[in-house]
Amino acid sequence: MIMTRSRDVSDAAMNPTVRHARLDDLDTIMEIERKSFRVPWEYTIYLRICLQEGRVRSSDEGMLFMDVLEKEKKIIGFAVWETNPLSKKGHILNLAIIEEERSNGYGRMLIRHVQESLKNTGMASCNLEVRESNSLARSLYETCGYVISDRLAGYYFDEDAIEYSRNL
Ligand SMILES: CC(C)(COP(=O)(O)OP(=O)(O)OC[C@H]1O[C@@H](n2cnc3c(N)ncnc32)[C@H](O)[C@@H]1OP(=O)(O)O)[C@@H](O)C(=O)NCCC(=O)NCCS
Repeated sequence: MIMTRSRDVSDAAMNPTVRHARLDDLDTIMEIERKSFRVPWEYTIYLRICLQEGRVRSSDEGMLFMDVLEKEKKIIGFAVWETNPLSKKGHILNLAIIEEERSNGYGRMLIRHVQESLKNTGMASCNLEVRESNSLARSLYETCGYVISDRLAGYYFDEDAIEYSRNL
């Protein structure tokens, strides 16, 4: 009985959990961001989001959300998304998993979490943009049910974006 209980506790500690981003995550978030993207988002963007604990109200009644994936007390990834209550469209703005934890299903776990959150906030669909050359991310989105909805020429200045969408 005691053995089972202790294994359950350690399993729970091993399993990643999702929670709101907060200020003491900022350094790790920036480290993941800088190692994941050729053109990283600026520190001040994440600072603003973390200061508001991952929930930022935007001017058009929409919200911006940022959650992190925590495993064994370490941040291993994050997702940033927004809602538009008028169009009922959600939009994934950013998603990254720390390099040493990739290909373990955590990217898909975060996408599913974002989609659940979008449904719970009344969104009917979700879209995102990705670099045309980012075949790993494109494969993730395609296996999560996203289909190509547009090509955005020069979106990243040095490269086109492929827009993906799906109904929720
Ligand atoms: C894109 C990213 C978030 C994927 O996260 P991940 O945790 O590695 O992905 P998962 O393990 O959940 O894999 C989901 C799917 O992605 C694809 N994928 C992931 N790793 C792959 C690999 N090494 N080779 C081929 N496909 C892979 C597969 O389609 C996989 O589905 P499958 O397991 O059924 O084969 C991660 O690679 C990352 O952080 N990249 C840098 C930042 C980035 O490009 N973000 C996207 C911005 S739009």
